[in-house]
Amino acid sequence: MNPHPAFPLFPHRHLLGIKGLSPHDIDLLLDRADAAVAISRQSEKKTSSLRGRTQINLFYEASTRTQSSFELAGKRLGADVMNMSVASSSVKKGETLIDTAMTLNAMRPDILVIRHASAGAAALLAQKVTCSVVNAGDGAHEHPTQALLDALTIRRAKGQVGRLTVAICGDILHSRVARSNIILLNALGANVRVVAPSTLLPVGIEKMGAEVFNTMADGLKGADVVMMLRLQRERMAGALVPSVREYFRYFGLDAEKLKLANEGALVMHPGPMNRGVEIASQMADGPQSMIQEQVEMGVAVRMAVMEALLDPRRNPQGRTA
Ligand code: CP
Repeated sequence: MNPHPAFPLFPHRHLLGIKGLSPHDIDLLLDRADAAVAISRQSEKKTSSLRGRTQINLFYEASTRTQSSFELAGKRLGADVMNMSVASSSVKKGETLIDTAMTLNAMRPDILVIRHASAGAAALLAQKVTCSVVNAGDGAHEHPTQALLDALTIRRAKGQVGRLTVAICGDILHSRVARSNIILLNALGANVRVVAPSTLLPVGIEKMGAEVFNTMADGLKGADVVMMLRLQRERMAGALVPSVREYFRYFGLDAEKLKLANEGALVMHPGPMNRGVEIASQMADGPQSMIQEQVEMGVAVRMAVMEALLDPRRNPQGRTA
């Protein structure tokens, strides 16, 4: 990809959340990501726009999609990519997040990608290190690259995001994906709904710009996109749903419930999925499912984000400090 000067300069040094991005910033990243999709579909996938740059992935929480796609994205852009293995690092000896980050920062990386269980961890690091920081998910706060890849998937399938009705269904309470998506979809002019039992909805969610529904029958009627979320049982302090079987009956996506949405509605899920809990296999693997496209768009979005943050026009020396 030749990123310059085809794309305007992205005006941020870090990507800590969707909050704080303008619709123009979001469109810029999606346009860049569209170009990156073409790169990933070529047989020769390697480019040189981040040649000589160093990317460190620091994941304190488990990840399949996000970590592997950040790694592939960096490699496709020609960066040197290091995956910090937290399980075998000095974190296990009691080293703090800040000390670990400062140690890695002293090795002069250009970009640090962090996933952490605590909300605000990425923002904290951004204040301490001299490189760019990307939030790959911080607690129940934000997961900005997930929302961007979801928007790219929708935009490519439907031609637009604005004016579509998007129903985000399931465990909204614990979901950083829901938060980032609600902010992004509102910024681009979509009608956003959340559909969940009241025990899985944060207080005041409607103030974020989401219409609240407590039944799938009401929430899916007229939806163009049905975004299912994983029931995050590991983050639940108590029993917020009576049983998995009952949850699936009332809030799991199956063929009958999908019929309530608009014809050709997209079925999305950020993964990892719990089949038979929030989504039936028939829906996850069905013709309306965009789940594999979401994974593909994940690589493209992460390529776009890292290129935009490390744009050499930001600093003639090409350094981010
Ligand atoms: N969607 C998502 O963040 O998946 P991983 O936890 O596998 O990275």
